[in-house]
Amino acid sequence: MPDTPAPHDAPAPHGAPAPHGAPAPHDAPAPHDAPAPHATPTPRAAAALRAATGALAAAGVPDAAVDAELLLAHVLGASRGGAQAAALRDDALAPEQLERFNGLVARRAGREPLQHLTGLAPFRHLELEVGPGVFVPRPETEIVAQLAIDALAVVPSGHPRAVDLGTGSGAIALAMATEVPHAEVWAIERSADAHAWAARNVARYGGENTHLVHADLADAAAELDGTVDVVASNPPYVPDEAIPRDPEVRLFDPPQALYGGPDGLDVVRVLSRTALRLLRAGGTLVIEHGEWQGEPLRELLTADGWRAAATHPDLTGRDRATTAIRP
Ligand SMILES: C[S@@+](CC[C@H](N)C(=O)[O-])C[C@H]1O[C@@H](n2cnc3c(N)ncnc32)[C@H](O)[C@@H]1O
Repeated sequence: MPDTPAPHDAPAPHGAPAPHGAPAPHDAPAPHDAPAPHATPTPRAAAALRAATGALAAAGVPDAAVDAELLLAHVLGASRGGAQAAALRDDALAPEQLERFNGLVARRAGREPLQHLTGLAPFRHLELEVGPGVFVPRPETEIVAQLAIDALAVVPSGHPRAVDLGTGSGAIALAMATEVPHAEVWAIERSADAHAWAARNVARYGGENTHLVHADLADAAAELDGTVDVVASNPPYVPDEAIPRDPEVRLFDPPQALYGGPDGLDVVRVLSRTALRLLRAGGTLVIEHGEWQGEPLRELLTADGWRAAATHPDLTGRDRATTAIRP
């Protein structure tokens, strides 16, 4: 278990103010809900959602309406569609539900990541447990996982081997282990906090083919040297001076998951050597990186002896992953 409490039960840390706009009284309450004179009006889903969207937008939260719906869904124990339907029907909310919803909205307005508030981050077909101390998996990493899965799936072996260096929540490793179930997958993580979150997710999704290792990627898994088919990694790659603008990233992602030295490539230099050691000849390396790091990364890998270094765009056309083949 991580040191931190389960995120959905965590109290608001900074006493963030409640969002503006208490729910307006419902325009036309159903007769059985008609308030007695002077009684507090029954809170309603539509007004609560409107007020939350306004509060989140005012706080600069991108996609305020989506986040409001997802937080209401979390409180109702429903899907996002279920929350939208509750708003369309203008369902009554229990006072405790409204209080919990408004508390979560206030924390989101304080720019806590949505995934810390719901406790879950979607990644491919998985819902990974996340919270303080672990990097929240991102959609662009799903492409990195896809490149690794494609390389792993075509290995002509009954038990191909893959290693995820810097696994964080376990995202890439668990995607490989569940989508290529005949593979053996090792997930390496140095941070004790992140390792604890990965352990929860390995317990949730991993089978006997998933091995979580608490180690530094510099010298991890020496027993696998020369036998691995695919090494995948989303390492820290933000240059030290390039502090991210989004508070969700700057304040809540662990620094050791973000920063990679002056040019952002310090961890990649170590990773390149580790992957050369782990992979068999012809094995594939897949690395996520920043949009402008494709060329320096290909040069770095080529200088280390890798062949066929190639950079791949993500779904928005930005260069975000590079692959190379072990000579
Ligand atoms: C950008 S996060 C990526 C996490 C996960 N792979 C993902 O895509 O969501 C980088 C991860 O690498 C870990 N890390 C950084 N340096 C490491 C090292 N030397 N050895 C092992 N893990 C490391 C960090 O703790 C963090 O969990």
